[in-house]
Amino acid sequence: MSLSQLARSIKESPTLKLNETAALLRDKGEPVIHLGGGEPKSKAPIDAVVNCATQLNSGDIKYAPADGLPAMKKAVIRYTEEHYRKIVGPDNIVVSSGAKQAIMNVLYAILDPKDEVIFPAPYWVSYPEMVKLAGGVPVIVTPEDGTFHPTVREIADMIGSYTKAIIINSPNNPCGVLYSKDFIAEIVRLCEAKNLYLIMDDLYNRLVFDGRTAPNAFEFATEDINRSKLVIVQGVSKMYAMTGFRVGWAIANPELAEAMGNIQSHQTSGPATPSQWAAVGALNGVQYSIETLRITLENNRNVMLERLRAFAGVKVTKPDGTFYCFPDFSAYEKDSNKLARLLLDKVRVVTVPGKEFGMEGYLRLSYCGTIKDTMEGLERMKWALDPNSPNELYLGERRLVRDWL
Ligand SMILES: Cc1ncc(COP(=O)(O)O)c(C=O)c1O
Repeated sequence: MSLSQLARSIKESPTLKLNETAALLRDKGEPVIHLGGGEPKSKAPIDAVVNCATQLNSGDIKYAPADGLPAMKKAVIRYTEEHYRKIVGPDNIVVSSGAKQAIMNVLYAILDPKDEVIFPAPYWVSYPEMVKLAGGVPVIVTPEDGTFHPTVREIADMIGSYTKAIIINSPNNPCGVLYSKDFIAEIVRLCEAKNLYLIMDDLYNRLVFDGRTAPNAFEFATEDINRSKLVIVQGVSKMYAMTGFRVGWAIANPELAEAMGNIQSHQTSGPATPSQWAAVGALNGVQYSIETLRITLENNRNVMLERLRAFAGVKVTKPDGTFYCFPDFSAYEKDSNKLARLLLDKVRVVTVPGKEFGMEGYLRLSYCGTIKDTMEGLERMKWALDPNSPNELYLGERRLVRDWL
């Protein structure tokens, strides 16, 4: 079969693949614990469900404008004013089928062949593939000091004549780290000084713990929104637990927003209207579900940290937000794919290899599931890896004997 060079250069999404593997094993009755997931367990807000159901009941479900329903744009304008303290207009907004499509649109709209996009490691798995899909070249900055905090100097040093954009995701998937206010301020200034696009992937920016809040890049921008190269990407997937609705959006200068809308108009057209009405419901409705989710996640994070600290040799950085933790398991196994495979094969725990996020020796563990699953998953992992654990473990009726250490 002859596939394009592009198709051959793109890897499958490892996180979606893991979901499939876990579902297949569960269908076979295997007692799988999924610590690899990327979506909260909670239900969509009631206002989202009611709004969507009302539209479905009308039976009148037609194309939406390519860049989003007016009602959805209105909800985004209000949201941006409330949460970013920024006044934007409808021509600054493009509503897409998930934040993923919003980021893809930006990249298609700004990249010429060989243009470079810089982002720090660890990074969300899709950034390198998305940049390649848009014809660009991903440039990864790995903090030299072994932390998850790159310095602005490290990023600035990678800027060259092909650099078009920087992507910043804070709090970060997979490590949960929140970059400091000073860091965000300096990155905004750097991008303005070098005339680069700054794509702020703010998808998790209200799922932040310990009384902290995520810095707002708009606060540091000196250029007018209508000329600025700052792009904010947001969506309802994570904060409102609405991953299946597939609604996200980007806020950009009108020229870029128009280009993104044009691109989207030929790819998918506007996002599904029932999903947009659901998102309108979520954004305009009662907001307590985000705080409830945030508190649950903070509690789950604390439980996960406590259990991980009982693993001899595992180094763990406390996540400031999201629902992921990114411990260093290299004391047990340096090859993260091998380690993730062992944990799945032997004790049926799904984890995501750190290599997929640009850092070998780490595993991404999610705490968006139930506390019971989090605790049991970590217990099984400890049993599988710690030579001091008893030699046997029961998974339900099944007796496991550890013969691999
Ligand atoms: C950092 C980051 N950005 C974007 C996305 C895409 O979100 P959506 O489901 O809205 O497309 C994800 C999803 O996992 C993510 O973790």
